[in-house]
Amino acid sequence: MRFRFHLATAALAAAATGVSAQPEAAPAGNGVANPAIWPEYQYPVPESAAAEARIADLLERMTLEEKIGQLVQADLCCVTPDDVRRYNLGSVLNGGNSGPGGDDLAPAARWLEAADAFYAASVDTSDGGVGIPVIWGTDAVHGHANIVGATIFPHNIGLGAAQDPALIERIGAATAIEIRVTGQEWTFAPTVTVPQDFRWGRAYEGYSSDPELVASYVGAMVRGLQGPPDGGSILARGKVIASTKHFLADGGTDRGVDQGDATIGEEALRDIHGAPYGPAIEEGVATVMASFSSWQGVKMTGNQSLLTGVLKERMDFGGFVVSDWNAHGQVEGCTNESCPQALMAGIDMYMAPDTWKPIYESLLAQAKAGEIPISRIDEAVARILRVKLRLGLFEAGKPSSRALSGDWDLLGSPDHRTLAREAVRKSLVLLKNQGVLPLRPGGRLLVAGEGADDIARQSGGWTLTWQGTGVDNSHFPGATSLWEGLRQAVSAGGGTAQLSPDGSFSRRPDAAVVIFGEKPYAEFQGDRASLQLDPDLAGPYETMRKLKEQGIPVVAVMITGRPLYVNPALNAADAFVVAWLPGSEGAGLADVLVGGPDGAPNFDFMGKLPAAWPRTANMDDGALYPFGYGLNYASPRAEWAALPEKAGASAGDSRTFLAAGAPASSWSLHIADPGAPGSMTRLTTFPAEALGGRARVTAEDAAVQEGARRFRIAGGEAAVTLGTFEPIDISRETNGDVLLLFTLKMTDAPERAGIAMRSGAEAIAVSNVRIPEGSEFVRYGIPLKCLRDKGIDMTRVAMPFVFATSGTADFALSEVRLGTDAQTVLPCG
Ligand code: BGC
Ligand code: BGC
Repeated sequence: MRFRFHLATAALAAAATGVSAQPEAAPAGNGVANPAIWPEYQYPVPESAAAEARIADLLERMTLEEKIGQLVQADLCCVTPDDVRRYNLGSVLNGGNSGPGGDDLAPAARWLEAADAFYAASVDTSDGGVGIPVIWGTDAVHGHANIVGATIFPHNIGLGAAQDPALIERIGAATAIEIRVTGQEWTFAPTVTVPQDFRWGRAYEGYSSDPELVASYVGAMVRGLQGPPDGGSILARGKVIASTKHFLADGGTDRGVDQGDATIGEEALRDIHGAPYGPAIEEGVATVMASFSSWQGVKMTGNQSLLTGVLKERMDFGGFVVSDWNAHGQVEGCTNESCPQALMAGIDMYMAPDTWKPIYESLLAQAKAGEIPISRIDEAVARILRVKLRLGLFEAGKPSSRALSGDWDLLGSPDHRTLAREAVRKSLVLLKNQGVLPLRPGGRLLVAGEGADDIARQSGGWTLTWQGTGVDNSHFPGATSLWEGLRQAVSAGGGTAQLSPDGSFSRRPDAAVVIFGEKPYAEFQGDRASLQLDPDLAGPYETMRKLKEQGIPVVAVMITGRPLYVNPALNAADAFVVAWLPGSEGAGLADVLVGGPDGAPNFDFMGKLPAAWPRTANMDDGALYPFGYGLNYASPRAEWAALPEKAGASAGDSRTFLAAGAPASSWSLHIADPGAPGSMTRLTTFPAEALGGRARVTAEDAAVQEGARRFRIAGGEAAVTLGTFEPIDISRETNGDVLLLFTLKMTDAPERAGIAMRSGAEAIAVSNVRIPEGSEFVRYGIPLKCLRDKGIDMTRVAMPFVFATSGTADFALSEVRLGTDAQTVLPCG
């Protein structure tokens, strides 16, 4: 029997009273730019009469269908070589969670085979088409980091600390080589965002908050990736095409909200966020990716004045503009399936990962109906073909036949790893040193902290997987963790090192390094309510204090994508080093921390803060250390004046609804009988009785003491809910394949169970689930898309979590949040 839960009752509706969609803040302007106030540039790639003649000839021979195909990019999740053949798709990509054959951890050789298969399909002319070769784009944003075994460079924020454009060009060149080994032609990099609010979870993808510093890097990275813009064949030179992203002001949104709205004026838009695009254009960047975000309430993907007026016309950008992952669906009047507005605004290629077919079909129908002028289609196709010709794609042959392809030794090669290690050394920023650094190599070193021996953690998001989660050291052959680097350096100097995550030891060490900080995250998952370390990551502060109480000198090393309020650690440790997200070559840390046999440093600290460090968790309280700050071994030692340990803002995370059994601020936990109006009980103190004595709720230990709530239900219908009076918009997460996660231990399973959500006052959707009995907590996930497809309006969710049961049940719930790291993904019932 199919379980249908009747939740649309007065009892639950009551929780939604007073709920209304939040009024949109009135934008400061109308989102229309004035190109005349923007700087002019000149696209340097020489025009080639031969290429133009070839483009004209191709356009003449291509059918409308073939032209539309070129405008569409599909994700590996959802496209086959045969689709590329039939629809003449211009491009494929692998998003952060996709790879060949559905395996984002597929071995390198499989990527090259897949590249060959897509290429062969694209040039197949047996159906009478012209056979334009396809290009494959990938997020090689810090090395070719989707590939197991590749060199993983520090994320951009760390490179910004190095203040070294020449280093950036070398990294670009090494990254291009590794991409070419597995057969791709295009990287969605560099990110040239200029983040202004570090609550934004993508801030680490930017080099700096300073437009000048970012602008000084962009040309170098583009040149490293693409080679000089002289019209020479990019592929023949062992290079790839780049994509500066995300145009424009992705880092300028209010409160640092991912995909949010930058309500700034046009001068700030131009001078802060526009600054990096000039150097990119002057270096001949081949593609620009439009931002998901809005300016003055208008989505960039639909902003003609900026995409066409400013970027293409005023700035003379001669490549093509690609949209972001289904971003067209967010343009006013558009859906994921249909959006001629984006093309008309200036998008040349639609990143339509799982929607490529409806986008293809709707564009075709709109073109046939005369709703899109053919001239605009021809112009977009010409831009794409121009880039393909510049690549030398038509002459390059199948990917595996090209230079560098399949030279597996180049993937994670010693040279590239040496370069990454240099980058790690140069990115370290020293904020405090009370004489404990450099460490003497001959002594006994204790290395503490959960993050010390965790390469995924030190690499951050966009590493092997989208959010950088779900992988461990075994996925990083050839890489070195921070701990391993320290161990090697200390033992090479005749000393000993001990790894002890909790800081306990058997033999008293001479010094301790405590490695702590953020865990990997990427888009939206990384957004925070304030600039502080998540409370559950602050445990090492205590370790530092304990070690120090015992008279052991402590060096704190922070893994982080951004400057955060960490005054307790700055006070507790004798030295404090910001390592950012160093990537696969953790030995770069030891190079600087561990001195030579004579006690002198081997390498000095060179890194300078790429953005101001906050005094509290609220940036409005000012900077503790300004942009550009950083000590070195020559810095005079100053007395340490203890910093106030007041965060000054709460750590609330709008995507966590229940943590350690307790609802997050502005959320409440209820239990109700869906069939009995008025039965809803808000659960605030424990033990509690509800449902007329049918339910008993107690506090139970989980990861922490009383970290869960246990529900014992003596038969009948029950629904445990998390609700809020201010409905939340989780449509972005839904589009991004995020899951609703809930951590539950099922002691006695009910006859039937369902996961539901509620939007607005009425809409309720239930997905039936089977949760097996067990003695452990398990983190289950259900795709948000599943609930959306059942009718939930994800833009106004009042109850993101309803767990409905029928019959006797006994279960404990510890956590409910959005995320991607489920232990078990439940099917959409
Ligand atoms: C991100 C882009 C990325 C694309 C492909 C989007 O969600 O915003 O930066 O290039 O996905 O993975
Ligand atoms: C993909 C990412 C993409 C994101 C878009 C994920 O499923 O793996 O590459 O950026 O969705 O929101």
